Amino acid sequence: MSWTKAIILVGGPSVGTRFRPLSLSLPKPLFPIAGEPIIRHHIDALVKVDSIREILLVGFFENEIFNRFLTEVQLSYPHVTFRYLREYQSLGTGGGLYHFRDEILSGNPDYFFVVHADIACSFPFNEFLQYHKSHKGSATIMGTKVNKEDANRYGCLVSSETGVVTHYVEKPQSFVSDLISCGVYLFDPCIFEEMRKSVLDRRSIRDEEDEYGNVIYKLSGNADVVRLEQDILRPMASTGKLFVYTLKENDFWMQIKTAEQALPANNLYLHHLHKQPKPGHTRSSSCVVDASQNSNIPSVNYQINTPSRNQNFELVPPVYIHPTALIHPTAKIGPNVSVGPRVIIERGVRIKNAIILDGTEIKNDSLVMNSIVGWDSKLGSWSRVQGEPVMPNQADKSKNASILGKECKVADEIVIRSCLVLPHKELKSSVHDEVVM
Ligand code: GTP
Repeated sequence: MSWTKAIILVGGPSVGTRFRPLSLSLPKPLFPIAGEPIIRHHIDALVKVDSIREILLVGFFENEIFNRFLTEVQLSYPHVTFRYLREYQSLGTGGGLYHFRDEILSGNPDYFFVVHADIACSFPFNEFLQYHKSHKGSATIMGTKVNKEDANRYGCLVSSETGVVTHYVEKPQSFVSDLISCGVYLFDPCIFEEMRKSVLDRRSIRDEEDEYGNVIYKLSGNADVVRLEQDILRPMASTGKLFVYTLKENDFWMQIKTAEQALPANNLYLHHLHKQPKPGHTRSSSCVVDASQNSNIPSVNYQINTPSRNQNFELVPPVYIHPTALIHPTAKIGPNVSVGPRVIIERGVRIKNAIILDGTEIKNDSLVMNSIVGWDSKLGSWSRVQGEPVMPNQADKSKNASILGKECKVADEIVIRSCLVLPHKELKSSVHDEVVM
């Protein structure tokens, strides 16, 4: 039987700047969406491929950043090996693959997936693999159709009827195609030969042999930086070895570049997971739950919402609520809401289209809508944190969600509308359409 590996390109501290203020407190790949770190969704989908035996995270964050995450996924999926490989500097989307080629090729996998971390997708990896096996190429790109006017923000593909990619243009000036690359690839190991050629061509240097006859490559300056898309895939487009697999109608895909794009990603994953719940997640299928029972914590009068007990606040699915969150019976939550661990939500609070991060407290009669509230923040009574709805892959920047960084405080009765608030800010007067620094 054939076997496969997967590499998730997690980037490093200098990428993901558009994800501020949230990436100031947590690396973007670990930011929770629908109750799970972004890259956990990738892993949960990858392990559904029977032949996957190893998943490598490749990036240039400090090693410790992923320790806890890797321990958790290793416990969940003991039959798969997980490792983090650290680039000594940012090597681009192809440089890390080339640098760690021996690690990737060890054990002689038949194929390997490469997946960008900063996307949300239904990830039909099994169908993708079947398609790759069915053609004679050495690489397959996962592609999707987007609106014509948005296409030039992505890598654009032109393909034949049989799926052979004939042109690949990264972020073209003018319209080329509405079929774009999703940042998900499947390669045969021979791709490293293409990479080697491309790297050497780009460096305009020749292989040399050392005194023992081993091939050595001359490196200079930043020559290890390789852009997978421009340096490897674009030249392959004319060779007939590059194919595209196009996502089907019931699939979804979007990029997560800015902090507010976490909101539509949250909606997509919640709807997706609501259809196929995973054990351990509280995803209620009932719309309204009886609020008159189970207020059995007299001192605070909240309902502890665990999967084993009835929820007795009003819930409009889909939502994700961590089992340690405390939610008052008169609160109304949903749709499209994720509530993290140890969050406290008081009486009469209304939340929709929002992510409420760990340890946040929301006082009575407040509203949170189209917003993300950062870790350990405090929202006063009758406050409002709201923004405009954000669509997947939306380019229009005139409409913004509200994003509060870690440990922000909003005073009673204050309105925050379409603002980006840096961590540790105290908001004592109402603000609209501002970056609060
Ligand atoms: P932008 O629109 O400019 O962001 O371009 P893009 O969509 O092509 O994204 P980009 O190439 O910057 O990143 C795509 C994915 O690769 C993301 O998940 C990044 O975290 C990851 N990535 C980017 N640069 C590096 C790098 O130097 N090393 C590694 N390992 N990953 C990277």
